[in-house]
Amino acid sequence: MTSTATATGPERRAIADREANDRALDRYYRLHAKVYDLTRWSFLFGRRGVPGLLANGPSPRSIVEIGCGTGRVLAGLAGAFPQARLLGLDLSEDMLGVATGALARFGDRVSLRRAAYGGDAAPVETDAGPPDLMVFSYALSMFNPGWEDAIDRAASDLAPHGRIAVVDFHDTPWRWFARWMGVNHVRMEGHLLPRLRERFAEEQCTIRRAYGGLWRHVAFVGRRRGAVSGERRSSVDRTLIRGAAADPDALTPRRSRPRTGTPGRRRARGRRA
Ligand SMILES: C[S@@+](CC[C@H](N)C(=O)[O-])C[C@H]1O[C@@H](n2cnc3c(N)ncnc32)[C@H](O)[C@@H]1O
Repeated sequence: MTSTATATGPERRAIADREANDRALDRYYRLHAKVYDLTRWSFLFGRRGVPGLLANGPSPRSIVEIGCGTGRVLAGLAGAFPQARLLGLDLSEDMLGVATGALARFGDRVSLRRAAYGGDAAPVETDAGPPDLMVFSYALSMFNPGWEDAIDRAASDLAPHGRIAVVDFHDTPWRWFARWMGVNHVRMEGHLLPRLRERFAEEQCTIRRAYGGLWRHVAFVGRRRGAVSGERRSSVDRTLIRGAAADPDALTPRRSRPRTGTPGRRRARGRRA
């Protein structure tokens, strides 16, 4: 969280890189916003399950989704937690344009703001105060650079008892696929989970395979550290790995060749978004 005014040379370059990425994403979603909801169900797995991830625990009253896009996840959360005030933040005006229509039925309980998360912006909060839940759904993997800063910032923006819920791409054993996702501004190198585990006390973490192992996606829920006595850092053995041996090696991408046959013809094991 470096202020532009006090930044050193390398920090200024990092800020310029992040702003360039934000501009590239804004351009990307100018086109994609039109077809986003029609197409993304087939690969953004786990989004629909976000409210269910939060079923054990106090109901959040102040919810912020960073990178809310067209508002699907936010709508699910608004429905699941009727007492909550919600804020969706996104850098793309076009995505927010779609979200505005999708969320109108919730009235002033849900608000939307156009902003890029990160840098030296003010802390996010709803009109019910600092968030006791922050959600990142398929957003962090697009913060390149800036994902570390966004995770750290979420840890400080959350209310003391607050929780973070993240669903996102995890990794892929296929270099060609990683390159293709890179063209679409997505990094999937298993890089998010270690930072999330470092910054938050893990409550649950599930890694699932999609399309027979073409990639894996992750769902993580953690609590802001220091908020509850008796918290302990969780370890790999608490991670539930669907369709894979529950051992630490399963967290690293397999380099071996998956079974033959095109991924598209195999049944998707991940849950549909
Ligand atoms: C793949 S979409 C996910 C949208 C929604 N969360 C969902 O699950 O359908 C990623 C969204 O993150 C937004 N985004 C990317 N970087 C951002 C940043 N630094 N600050 C705010 N929004 C960002 C993009 O504009 C885009 O709408």
